[in-house]
Amino acid sequence: MFRLKQELRIPGPVPVPANVLLASARPMINHRGVEFKHKLPQILERLKPVFFTKDTVLALTGSGTAAMEAAVANLVSPGDPVLVLVGGSFGQRWAELCQSYGADLHVVSYPWGTGVDPQAVKEALDLNPDIEVVFATHNESSTAVLNDIESIGEVVKNYPALLVVDAVSSLGGSPLETDSWGIDMVCAASQKCLMTPPGLAFVSVSQRARERMEGVTSPRYYLNLLTYEKMLAKGEPPFTPNLANFFALDEALDMIYEEGLDNMFIRHMLMRDMVRVGMEALELELLVLDKWASPTVTSVRPEGFDVVEFCQRLREQYGLELAGGQGKFTGEIFRIGHMGYATPLDMLTTLAAIECCLGRYGVATAPAGKLWNQWIKEN
Ligand SMILES: Cc1ncc(COP(=O)(O)O)c(C=O)c1O
Repeated sequence: MFRLKQELRIPGPVPVPANVLLASARPMINHRGVEFKHKLPQILERLKPVFFTKDTVLALTGSGTAAMEAAVANLVSPGDPVLVLVGGSFGQRWAELCQSYGADLHVVSYPWGTGVDPQAVKEALDLNPDIEVVFATHNESSTAVLNDIESIGEVVKNYPALLVVDAVSSLGGSPLETDSWGIDMVCAASQKCLMTPPGLAFVSVSQRARERMEGVTSPRYYLNLLTYEKMLAKGEPPFTPNLANFFALDEALDMIYEEGLDNMFIRHMLMRDMVRVGMEALELELLVLDKWASPTVTSVRPEGFDVVEFCQRLREQYGLELAGGQGKFTGEIFRIGHMGYATPLDMLTTLAAIECCLGRYGVATAPAGKLWNQWIKEN
């Protein structure tokens, strides 16, 4: 039987370009040898513009959650008052991590499927001015909401608290201006918009974050970012890194710079808009309003059919892999990933498969195709 070609349209991991995969297949090198001493700082330097920072960017071997845990372990001592913004599974993850490290947890909850209101953050900080760190999510992948981190940064700037942002599913797909928006630490991962296999996590560290890390008493060893910084000064990682992923990332960064960051952001917005007009044409309800719509993932809440069964049929009959809902949206929504190595053509095939599976033809691809044509005309 024909082995279906799998179209991976989930919010990460994303399809990896063949040249990036090939780059990861080269023989191992000495991670403390001359070549890697040159490569490691060079790759981290090349990541800085993607992070919109002039400060340090560090890499850990691990998934995005390793970067998040590193942020908490290095910035929070037991009993420290922290504020976590929770409107989905990944905001919830911040809360669980802070709890694990014994923080005095304060939460601003916002409805799943909406973005956090910066005014609510201001009110929480006015009520608890001793908050030391605010943890936010840029792109809440569980709901497909892009939060307005610039406005949150504007608020947090007026208080002594540091601002830490999970940008695991947005870094490279949507601008996050770390330095100018006042973000002290950004967490990211290789397997999303950076179109590299899973296995590398990244954190940016501001001067304020670095100073705070020195005094934090939480136990940490593998995730001690001070060790990573100290070793980086010698061009070395503290532990044996995921070398294959570094080779891959280097190649992916070539592609990112070839396209240009601004063009990458525009491509992601075009794909978001194509998916949204396509879903509307199919009369499938979008979970998120335009103002919070994520450029990297779209969530759809259809009425009248079983989403789990629908995703299973798409997978088994069409080879299209979408993501289901998480947490309170389990069984209620499906999510279409459009990040990293994804193209407008991928959006048309995704829409076409969805409409075929629904038994409707040509309704969704026409308005999405029009958007693409208009974009081609303008660029
Ligand atoms: C917004 C966000 N944060 C954190 C994570 C966790 O990353 P990982 O699964 O790589 O640990 C994810 C993964 O999907 C995510 O989308």
